[in-house]
Amino acid sequence: MLPFLPLLTFLLPSLSLPSSYTLDIPTFITTESPIALSGLLANIGPSGLKAEGAASGVVIASPSTENPNYDYTWIRDASLVSKLLVDRYTQGRDPSLQGIIDDWVSAMGILQQVPNPSGNVSTGGLGEPKFNPDLTAFTGAWGRPQRDGPALRAISMLTYATYLLGQGNTSYVRNTLWPMITLDLGYVAQNWNMTGFDLWEEQDGSSFFTLLSQARALHQAAPLAQTYEDASTAQMWEQQAGNILCFLQSFWTGNYALANINLPSSRSGLDTNTVLASIHAFDIAAGCDSNTFQPCSDKALANHKAVVDSFRSLYSLNSQYGPDQSVAVGRYKEDVYYNGNPWYLTTLACAEQLYSSLQTWTSQGYLTVTPLSQPFFAQFLPSISSGTYASSNETYTQLVQGVQGMADGFVSIVQQYLPSDGGLSEQFHKSSGTPTSAGDLTWSYASFLSMADSRASLPPSSWGAQTLSLPSVCQPGPQPPQVQITFVESATTQYGENIYLTGSIPQLADWSTTAALPLGAANYPDWSVTVQVPVGESFQYKFIRIYNGQVTWESDPNRQYTAPESEEVTVDDTWRASNVQYGTVALARTHDV
Ligand SMILES: *[C@@H]1O[C@H](CO)[C@@H](O)[C@H](O)[C@H]1NC(C)=O
Ligand SMILES: *[C@@H]1O[C@H](CO)[C@@H](O)[C@H](O)[C@H]1NC(C)=O
Ligand SMILES: *[C@@H]1O[C@H](CO)[C@@H](O)[C@H](O)[C@H]1NC(C)=O
Ligand SMILES: *[C@@H]1O[C@H](CO)[C@@H](O)[C@H](O)[C@H]1NC(C)=O
Repeated sequence: MLPFLPLLTFLLPSLSLPSSYTLDIPTFITTESPIALSGLLANIGPSGLKAEGAASGVVIASPSTENPNYDYTWIRDASLVSKLLVDRYTQGRDPSLQGIIDDWVSAMGILQQVPNPSGNVSTGGLGEPKFNPDLTAFTGAWGRPQRDGPALRAISMLTYATYLLGQGNTSYVRNTLWPMITLDLGYVAQNWNMTGFDLWEEQDGSSFFTLLSQARALHQAAPLAQTYEDASTAQMWEQQAGNILCFLQSFWTGNYALANINLPSSRSGLDTNTVLASIHAFDIAAGCDSNTFQPCSDKALANHKAVVDSFRSLYSLNSQYGPDQSVAVGRYKEDVYYNGNPWYLTTLACAEQLYSSLQTWTSQGYLTVTPLSQPFFAQFLPSISSGTYASSNETYTQLVQGVQGMADGFVSIVQQYLPSDGGLSEQFHKSSGTPTSAGDLTWSYASFLSMADSRASLPPSSWGAQTLSLPSVCQPGPQPPQVQITFVESATTQYGENIYLTGSIPQLADWSTTAALPLGAANYPDWSVTVQVPVGESFQYKFIRIYNGQVTWESDPNRQYTAPESEEVTVDDTWRASNVQYGTVALARTHDV
């Protein structure tokens, strides 16, 4: 591929690139790719140079054994690594990978059956996030389950199975791959509607990355399931793929996709979780479909800008880059792990989403700017307006060059903060840029190689995204966890007078006095009532007393509460005497938040 950056300089004559941007991306990729591949392979047992003690086919996360100890195999990381290897092998680009892929399949066949703290193979054990490198269970405390693992493993195996069937190798598919795929997909179909830990192993809720991977896995199986499953199972998987896709649409805020819902969180929800979801759902045959969050969809591009912008002022090393230039990107801005730094794999994912978009636009011969994606494209052409631009149009050329320049900018940042031996750690320090946390992170190497494939216009295998459509009626997804709150109000009353509760949320009657919740006086003078509120919900409330139809409010200010992460709690209050009597319902509005 021709270097585009000289064109970028032409396109943006007013912006002087910082000297730290290195312009020769193709040379850098040519130099770094073999380093990344050998770094990745070194972490796979039994013969990987840095995977000592790892069983055959086991992909360790990193050889680092302390600060942090990553000498484990995570199902997610290993499956994303195998996804890359399977794409490269099945597209005929590296025949030497066959043995490693087959070893990984065999290792996974063992791991699926290892009872672990999440359960055994039929009771939830497939959601266990990580194992010891000798294929035994990890029994320490951990954020479990993580439900992306089985989906990602099935995706890799489905791509491999589809290829082998094309080679006429039905026996391996029927006897080895399919029994494993069906276990993972059975787990996904049964459990997608339950909460679990996200890919960063911190948030126990519903994760965008997990759900999009699950929808993909179930749908990608459809053609093979016709042959290898009974019709009702095949149909159920496809229905659940649609239900998941439906549920995923509720993550959209109007400007970006939330990374996690159904959990108490003070985070913005801007997170490279969603960028990673998009690149791993990429299917060049699906065009710029926004339901499946294709990299070039208006939603995914708006999301890209929102996520990248959230890192601009977060790290001091980003201050050298202009407002429309690429920056170093981490997981999410509230991150405190290792004091919160940019990561190589998330910065590379931001590049890969753009390279993947370029592939689709080239393939379809046009790009479309919508009101949603206009701010994204305005980074490259401030005057751009909504419309469809054919590849023959000079506006198309300007936009595509701008996008290519931004993608290359992310790669250039990775190049800038790479040690001289080309090793890729997990993170680089937010002010000095020094590599930090685990060294030789297998996922970092995989992310470099998939970025490089994407820049070289080598798309991953299609998974049929264009035939995954939204059902007309959605089955409900996971519900947010609820906490039972018992409000106890100590109040002496006169005969015929009762205590009520009202507040700022529907469960508390939205400040109504007529629909306020009556409290029971079984333990007079303690009055009480129990309500269910989603964990993490913050609200205001007050008690009122009603006597002969006359409403008396407690004195100001409104009481304030946030529903804690717990099954049930009691909140004790004492009546706050008011010297003002409110006689009418309408005045309740003065207590609105
Ligand atoms: C899994 O656990 C369940 C419940 O303890 C048990 O009935 C079942 O036999 C176990 N299955 C395997 C394969 O160990
Ligand atoms: C089918 O593929 C498996 C896995 O690579 C291989 O071990 C086996 O020899 C192949 N069988 C045939 C008949 O090609
Ligand atoms: C989740 O989906 C499965 C499969 O449709 C169903 O059996 C189960 O009841 C659902 N669970 C919840 C909590 O909705
Ligand atoms: C490019 O597209 C714009 C907007 O649709 C249009 O006004 C213009 O005429 C096109 N230019 C060419 C050369 O087709």
